Amino acid sequence: MRSHYCGIVDESLLDQEVTLCGWVNRRRDHGGVIFVDLRDREGLVQVVFDPDRADVFATAERIRSEYVLKVTGRVRRRPEGTVNTDLRTGAIEVLGTGLTVLNTSETPPFQLDEDDVGEETRLRYRYVDLRRPTMQRRLQMRAQITGVLRRFLEGHDFLDIETPMLTKATPEGARDYLVPSRTHPGSFFALPQSPQLFKQLLMMSGLDRYYQIVRCFRDEDLRADRQPEFTQLDIETSFMDEEGIMTLMEEMMRELFAQVLEVPLHTPFQRMTYAEAMRRFGSDKPDLRIPLELTELTDVMAPVEFKVFSGPAKDPHGRVAALRLPKGGDLTRKEIDDYTQFVGRYGAKGLAYIKVNDVNAGREGLQSPILKFLPDEVVVEILNRTEAEDGDLIFFGADKARVVNEALGALRVKLGHDRHLVARGWRPLWVVDFPMFEMDDKDNRWVALHHPFTAPRVDNPDELAGDPGHLVSRAYDLVLNGTEVGGGSVRIHNMAMQQKVFELLGIGETEAREKFGFLLDALKYGCPPHGGIAFGLDRLVMLMTGAQSIRDVMAFPKTQTAACPLTQAPAEVSEAQLRELNIRLRQTAADKKEG
Ligand code: AMO
Ligand code: AMP
Repeated sequence: MRSHYCGIVDESLLDQEVTLCGWVNRRRDHGGVIFVDLRDREGLVQVVFDPDRADVFATAERIRSEYVLKVTGRVRRRPEGTVNTDLRTGAIEVLGTGLTVLNTSETPPFQLDEDDVGEETRLRYRYVDLRRPTMQRRLQMRAQITGVLRRFLEGHDFLDIETPMLTKATPEGARDYLVPSRTHPGSFFALPQSPQLFKQLLMMSGLDRYYQIVRCFRDEDLRADRQPEFTQLDIETSFMDEEGIMTLMEEMMRELFAQVLEVPLHTPFQRMTYAEAMRRFGSDKPDLRIPLELTELTDVMAPVEFKVFSGPAKDPHGRVAALRLPKGGDLTRKEIDDYTQFVGRYGAKGLAYIKVNDVNAGREGLQSPILKFLPDEVVVEILNRTEAEDGDLIFFGADKARVVNEALGALRVKLGHDRHLVARGWRPLWVVDFPMFEMDDKDNRWVALHHPFTAPRVDNPDELAGDPGHLVSRAYDLVLNGTEVGGGSVRIHNMAMQQKVFELLGIGETEAREKFGFLLDALKYGCPPHGGIAFGLDRLVMLMTGAQSIRDVMAFPKTQTAACPLTQAPAEVSEAQLRELNIRLRQTAADKKEG
């Protein structure tokens, strides 16, 4: 039907006849001549129809935006002064000699160049939304990215192997999506939160190197970088330790950025322990492009009278820290109030601050509602440790360490953006030495920080005795510009160790057998040392395309409430279907409407 894509017709085709198919981006009538910008996935080309060919011209007069056309014509140079250097096709135009309307279109629900179309509308008419050049570019880059990743992994002997979608729960910390079984009344499959256990079983099966670009399902609170179904680049290898895996993955990332963005990533990637990341940035995924850091003040504040600070300073789970904003002295009262509200979202009860007008003028040079509560030597220590300079503002957080870290960690990122402090470029970072377990305050029990199959940094299960809070795991996360793009670990390959870890997690023998009996069995029959990683492909594509949300790099994402406005999923099902599945609803659709 077509000889060329619209978007690639350029001067190399001068005087040639081309046949193009595409959508009408815009039609303009200019003194007896009709201009049509014809669009396809590669871009736009200008087509001109003149009245010399009466029948073609008559058809051209009928066409509207988003009509689908087939145009035959001759490529010619645009007249002097009408060249558009922004377009690949900007130096030429096609003089239309043949025109077929392949399909008409109603007026689309929104213009493709409209900027503030609501998300609900965009998703409802996703097939129109995806025609936008930016969306086309993002999906094309996504395909290019998966292509490069596949070629790299295949070049390193990784095998693409599929794992089941109808399976049993894998504990990755979210709720499961369940699928009722018709043939086993009252039983349910879980959609995988990740292929974690299957990829480990593949290593036990001797397949040595596995990868898969795979959909994962997690019923959790959604955000800009979280969707209920998302894609992982999932990887597992045998006989490799964390050094080997991280080195290979760095090589893959370098190859990816070089090929797709023509950007060199420096080797080796920076590494930081979890403890250092929390201490300096209040986050286990610090954005290193932002030059702000937290300052530890817990030890300084323990003896002060001011309870707001001394309370958390004396609490073994508490923390007092400062965040200095260079040249932040110009913040208004209103701005400080807004930031106080902002940290409130993370549970902070306030946001104390000191304005540093003149660092050498003692108390006179400082301005702060809390100054009167702090003795001289403490004030001096604050100024020294934060390396404050004239014109700076110092914020304070005092609470449980978790609250201080989350609040000041988020404030650091917000200030970085608000004050335009974010440096350009890519700052990949490996975060290592994660704790094995963290305390779940709600249930007062230990939970795995990564997942319960992650190996501890000890060789013998007996060494797991003592405070589980101090155990370090062999896990690693890859963080890129403040986003966690990947995470993995060396796994437990020894049954006694696995049992001991389940025990520490409060998973008793019966429960362990019930949930992971197949894994424990497999560990008995010759399990190689193994480890791996999974990358959040959507997040990686989001960063590489500069999109603000992973929804903008997925063809058909869900809304913030995990629904699809296009297909109206999820939807109610018929009584007959429910009966077949042996399911009776606690609340029928009719009840819900009344309620
Ligand atoms: P983890 O749970 O860290 O590890 O997931 C790996 C990566 O997947 C991405 N990710 C998400 N992306 C979009 N929406 C979500 N809801 C979502 N949840 C996670 C993140 C994350 O870094 N089985 C382990 C990996 C392993 O140990 O090999 C796992 O799933 O970018
Ligand atoms: P208050 O004594 O409650 O009026 O607080 C005095 C100052 O300390 C105010 O600027 C509060 O915003 C701040 N503040 C109160 N609680 C905290 C806290 N937990 N962490 C940091 N600052 C706080």
